[in-house]
Amino acid sequence: MALEFTPLHPLFAAEVGGIDLRRPLDEATVAALDAAMDRYALLVFRDQPMTESEQVACARQFGPLDAGLRKATGAPTRFGHEELIDISNLSLDGSVAGRDNAKLIGTLANQLWHSDSSFQPLPIAYSMLSAVVVPDQGGDTEWADLRAAWDALPDDLRAAVEGRTAHHSTFHSRIMLGDDKYTPEQLNRFPPAEWPLVRMHPSSGRKLLFVGVHCDRVSGLTVPEARVLIADLIEHATQRQFVYRHKWRAGDYVMWDNRSTLHRGRRYDLAARRDLRRTTTLERQAAQAQAA
Ligand code: OGA
Ligand code: MN
Repeated sequence: MALEFTPLHPLFAAEVGGIDLRRPLDEATVAALDAAMDRYALLVFRDQPMTESEQVACARQFGPLDAGLRKATGAPTRFGHEELIDISNLSLDGSVAGRDNAKLIGTLANQLWHSDSSFQPLPIAYSMLSAVVVPDQGGDTEWADLRAAWDALPDDLRAAVEGRTAHHSTFHSRIMLGDDKYTPEQLNRFPPAEWPLVRMHPSSGRKLLFVGVHCDRVSGLTVPEARVLIADLIEHATQRQFVYRHKWRAGDYVMWDNRSTLHRGRRYDLAARRDLRRTTTLERQAAQAQAA
């Protein structure tokens, strides 16, 4: 079977045909998909329903997996695999979570523009989301191309961001949502990560504007200056011409680059079942360097 790529948007995102992700991929296929990720930043595969084990095995072929915050919180999971990240509105027993369930804070925070785990001081690369149950209405996901956002950034904003770094904090979006009862000890356990606002993608060589809802400070600026700049940058980066919107079908598998894109879930009735499962990879070379 030959891989087929059908672009879904003028700037990025493609649908991939001619592949069964549940079977082991040969090296040439992984390399072809990596190259396609450098170009498209977001790949959609239809009709790939997966078991938990199949999803973990598929994802591992693209790099070491990172379990995100659960590594530190040790929060219980409804899955048999540590590496699977629960992107659902379900409680541990599989029933739809009640609206006072703390889990829904994460579900709602996912509806703000972000890059997965940018609050970790780790070189995060891809996320891969498998759709198991999707609601009839709403619950689409949107991605914005941060490379295109950099390319189109007006000169005054370029001057404002060049040479500056931003703090990305896991708590910032949650505090904004009213979940603000963290102890100093909890806050200290997840210190913010610092990333340049302008990054060069290591394998595509493209420059990109690295912002998102986790950003709460910018080097050399006061907090209010930083917050207004971040709002302006997110507004710029998420203009409609930079955004692809995905309407989920059960069995979809979507893979994106967290350096090159922002994403957000869209509103849906939280009483309707939505069950998606994610894995996230570290940059291969950086992970090898850390292990050495
Ligand atoms: C994620 C995420 C958004 C959504 O899986 O990382 O942010 O639509 N998902 O569920
Ligand atoms: Mn996410």
